[in-house]
Amino acid sequence: MAIFLWLLYLFNVGKIITMETKLLEGQKAIELGAELIKAGEVVVFPTETVYGLGADAFNVDAVKKIYLAKGRPSDNPLIVHIYSKDQIKDLVSYISDDAKLLIDTFMPGPITIIMPKAPSIPKEVTGGLDTVGIRMPSHKVANAFLRACNCPIAAPSANVSTHISPTNAEDVYEDMQGRVPLIIQGGPSDVGIESTIVDMTQSIPTILRPGGITQEMIANVLGACESFKGKVTIAKAPGMKYKHYAPSCTMVIANSFESMIQEYDRVRNEGMNPIIIARDDVIKKLTGQRYIDVGLDADETMRNIFASMHEGQRIADYIICQDFGQDGKNASVMNRVNKAAGGVRV
Ligand code: TXA
Ligand code: MG
Repeated sequence: MAIFLWLLYLFNVGKIITMETKLLEGQKAIELGAELIKAGEVVVFPTETVYGLGADAFNVDAVKKIYLAKGRPSDNPLIVHIYSKDQIKDLVSYISDDAKLLIDTFMPGPITIIMPKAPSIPKEVTGGLDTVGIRMPSHKVANAFLRACNCPIAAPSANVSTHISPTNAEDVYEDMQGRVPLIIQGGPSDVGIESTIVDMTQSIPTILRPGGITQEMIANVLGACESFKGKVTIAKAPGMKYKHYAPSCTMVIANSFESMIQEYDRVRNEGMNPIIIARDDVIKKLTGQRYIDVGLDADETMRNIFASMHEGQRIADYIICQDFGQDGKNASVMNRVNKAAGGVRV
């Protein structure tokens, strides 16, 4: 029996790594994408946060293909994507006044709102939870694709499980080639990290994953908002239970400019090929070290951080990243940087 299961596994892995992957743009890509979704296939589409790997949320077999393509544990719930707020009432069983306020204020945009799920949503989508995360992307191509599909689309980020989230079609292609039939080109993602996840089923709205919409922005609208601090038994958001966002090479965070340079020299002396990820002001102080510039401020850093990690793992074998601090959106960036570095600081 064990041998049979092993052969079946090999056969399936063989299948997913030999598929032809098309990378297309424009109306043709959207139409083909919608056709594939209706035929029960998975499709990669752009959003303003990161690229998503979508399937019809009501087609259980299609949803299973997401987990297969990502190599992802199936107890990690998926976000359901919509193109119109009118779709929400069919997906949830209850919308609180506060949830409605968030929907009115921040959708479409980089936010996922957790609400009690409608019975019709398959458990395969929510990882067995009785809640569902709803997101309405603001990206034009995402909206056109979701509209053409005309069904809610379950989608995680379009990376192989534990790899870095992709913010452009080329990075998706590098990671997912052979695992998906189509990647819809939509240019670089404007926000650059995954949506803020807010759990509206708690007595106080709780951020499970920080993102482009900060705790302060939500508290300004609702009066109160907490960040999740508890110990995770069931994974409520990605990276809470599983390791996430790791580049293929070692990555560390520098406590100071001095320690950044010291570490760079130390690693080079060991014969490695390090690279620094930092903002303009730090880059200006460098004296010949190799670097990737993530820009001027928190918004630019957020936009560029995942692409810079992709670039780093391509052209170097050791990444040293600046500590961007905890102010506003920098905290959301550092949430991802910390996970990528496994918390290692120098
Ligand atoms: O910006 C984004 O959110 C991107 C784009 C593609 O929309 N998507 C994304 O999906 O980041 P993913 O699967 O990589 O992360 C979504 C996470 C899930 O892993 C899960 O932990 C959390 O959202 N989530 C989804 N439904 C949930 C629920 N009902 N309760 C708690 N957490 C949930
Ligand atoms: Mg992800």
